[in-house]
Amino acid sequence: MNSTAHIAVEFLNVTKAFGNVKAVRDVSFQIQSGELVTLLGPSGCGKTTTLRLIAGLEMATGGQIMIGGRDVTQLPATDRDVSMVFQSYALFPHMTVLQNVSYGLTMSRLSKDMVEEQALNGLKLVGLTGFEKRLPSELSGGQQQRVAVARALVLEPEVLLFDEPLSNLDAKLRRRVREEIRDLQQQLQLTVVYVTHDQEEALAVSDRIIVMQEAVIAQQGSPRELYESPKTRFVADFIGDANLVNGKLISTDNVMGTLQLDELTIQLPHLNLPIGEVTVAVRPEAILLDPRPEATGIPGTVHKAVYLGSHLEYEIKSAVGELFVIDPLGTEIIAEGHPVRLQIRERGVNLVQD
Ligand SMILES: Nc1ncnc2c1ncn2[C@@H]1O[C@H](COP(=O)(O)OP(=O)(O)O)[C@@H](O)[C@H]1O
Ligand SMILES: [Mg+2]
Repeated sequence: MNSTAHIAVEFLNVTKAFGNVKAVRDVSFQIQSGELVTLLGPSGCGKTTTLRLIAGLEMATGGQIMIGGRDVTQLPATDRDVSMVFQSYALFPHMTVLQNVSYGLTMSRLSKDMVEEQALNGLKLVGLTGFEKRLPSELSGGQQQRVAVARALVLEPEVLLFDEPLSNLDAKLRRRVREEIRDLQQQLQLTVVYVTHDQEEALAVSDRIIVMQEAVIAQQGSPRELYESPKTRFVADFIGDANLVNGKLISTDNVMGTLQLDELTIQLPHLNLPIGEVTVAVRPEAILLDPRPEATGIPGTVHKAVYLGSHLEYEIKSAVGELFVIDPLGTEIIAEGHPVRLQIRERGVNLVQD
């Protein structure tokens, strides 16, 4: 974890095939040291395989893998400076917390006292001082997870890998543990590669997200870039909610284009898409509903209106199709069956590729 290298992990056109199945196809990315990068995508898209390729638990069938500036493509797991925290924690049930955390260190050439000192330090970092003598079965799920993190941390790896670390925890704990992992990562400036299929979790913990789709990278960027500027239909739909509607790109200049969406004309980046029919992703909170008879905009009717305490949700039948709308500040609910006009905020609307 005390890397001086700027780039901690680099994939250069990496492919991993299992027989006929390409689990990872020609993937390239860089992870800077001190960064928490999340691999996000639906089940089966190749996240775990990518993580295992970093760890050396799978060998690439093509391309090159660099860790800390060193080519590790052909190196086994034991010769790579990485530690993995598994979904199931993989704690030894018959060993105490201290023995579990010490386990990896006892393989090193450290003296017994040094091993214990470092293990105690690891437990302190994850807030488990005083739990040394307990067995894993005497801990909550969240505490077991922290033991697993401490066990990986004490090895001071160049890169720490997490594969869906929260999936065995209940919903309430998940939020707390993900914050703990993020705090620890920032405090110790750890380089972390984190795998999840949960977009909210990814948005919450990451410096950067790599979205994967069917063995390739769909898009990478900061949580904000991905949410506010998704480039494909898949990314727009996978990160947050999006209404995908058809519009017409009627003119373009250098960067910006003019989109015609029924009665509305909207300026937005054109992504080098050709003039003509385009797919538009509109965030539910970017749609403004106006129930007044004199209002202008896309005509529609309230099909469903739901009060959810902190916000209102609507289903609107409109001239551009059925739309899901969130009104975060809604005071007056617009009744079902009521005609409305729709305006679209500047932020939260993007052209996307198929
Ligand atoms: N050991 C393996 N043998 C054969 N196919 C595998 C193996 N591991 C993964 N796969 C396949 O590779 C693809 C990606 O799997 P995986 O990386 O586990 O996805 P994810 O973690 O995103 O759910 C899937 O189609 C999966 O069935
Ligand atoms: Mg997986």
